[in-house]
Amino acid sequence: MKTLKDIELAGKKVLVRVDFNVPMNDAGEITDDLRIRTVLPTLRYLLAQKARVIVCTHMGRPKGQRVEKYSLAPVAAHLARLLGCPVPLAGDCIGAVAAEAVARLKDGEILMLENLRFYAQEEKNDPDFSRQLASLAEVYVNDAFAVSHRAHASVVGVTDHVSEKAAGFLLQQEVEYFHRSIDNPQRPLVAIVGGAKVSGKLEALRNMLEKVDKMIIGGAMANTFLKSQGHGVGASKVEDDLLDTAADLLRRAAERGVKMYLPVDVIAADRFAPDAISKQVTIQDIPENWMALDIGPASVICFNEVLADAKTIVWNGPMGAFEMAAFARGTMALAHTVAASHALSVTGGGDSNAAINQSGEAANISYMSTGGGAFLELMEGKVLPGIKALG
Ligand code: 3PG
Repeated sequence: MKTLKDIELAGKKVLVRVDFNVPMNDAGEITDDLRIRTVLPTLRYLLAQKARVIVCTHMGRPKGQRVEKYSLAPVAAHLARLLGCPVPLAGDCIGAVAAEAVARLKDGEILMLENLRFYAQEEKNDPDFSRQLASLAEVYVNDAFAVSHRAHASVVGVTDHVSEKAAGFLLQQEVEYFHRSIDNPQRPLVAIVGGAKVSGKLEALRNMLEKVDKMIIGGAMANTFLKSQGHGVGASKVEDDLLDTAADLLRRAAERGVKMYLPVDVIAADRFAPDAISKQVTIQDIPENWMALDIGPASVICFNEVLADAKTIVWNGPMGAFEMAAFARGTMALAHTVAASHALSVTGGGDSNAAINQSGEAANISYMSTGGGAFLELMEGKVLPGIKALG
């Protein structure tokens, strides 16, 4: 895989695929700009090399239609503020409008193309759309780790039509941290896996079981594991169709000598609401109509102990419904522990990153991946099509 520094860039038109699919609030303001800030080193380098920089990205899922709320205008404006230079937005990502905007670019200038997913061909990896995108530039750079699990035109197809292609600095960094944390980690390697569903993380759990020394399971997905071990979990969310699968995973862990840690106590609530009545109970004592919404203090002590000698920690998924203050303590406590540890700590996924930001510990985590689905697919042991296409 070539990197930016292997390529002569001066005066060249460079198409940079980024993933600026950032969360926005109802007022159209960006609520977390990690995905934008992490690409700045690549963009600044290209500008300093006097390239003509053409940034392209998707945002949201507009389903091949032009949908105004998914226009990249606020994103281009934010990028301009961060870079301290104008970032005009071309009203289209292909065709005459895009070509004319690119023709106006001078060396060391940058523009952004409008949302790639305004065309259905993007997600279909359409060869003609790929060719049209590629025709805007001489060099293609993928710095969009977070969408590199999608075989889309701007990620995969486009690479068939450019003479030079390379990985940007963010993509390089993501791959390097993946290697250091999952592929070739310092041991003990401890995975913390949480979130709502076992089903969404089944392949990641299976693959990680072959790699880790210890695994902590929290969040609503822990209920399915607990129930598979014969615990009554009240009205907690459970995937009943996966009870056998959960039991198999625990058996496989035992065969491999991987220690699995499930919550020993929880914060149970009478309903899923911020003002629900809640109490701390052992997992044997969850009342019939109540649901577990966070791990309890004894679980935190136990999980802290598990993390104490870790040399590498990979974390995906929160320990509870941390978006509600009453059920955030378990996730926040673990965020503080991971941040304070001497281990290489790598987190990924929108919820995990949001939880870490909420804990105020972002600066103390070794690496927060910008990937959600892409990070999970690496945990699943898959080769990402966008990375393969650069090879
Ligand atoms: C993400 O947010 O995970 C990426 O931007 C990919 O988005 P998608 O799941 O809509 O393809």
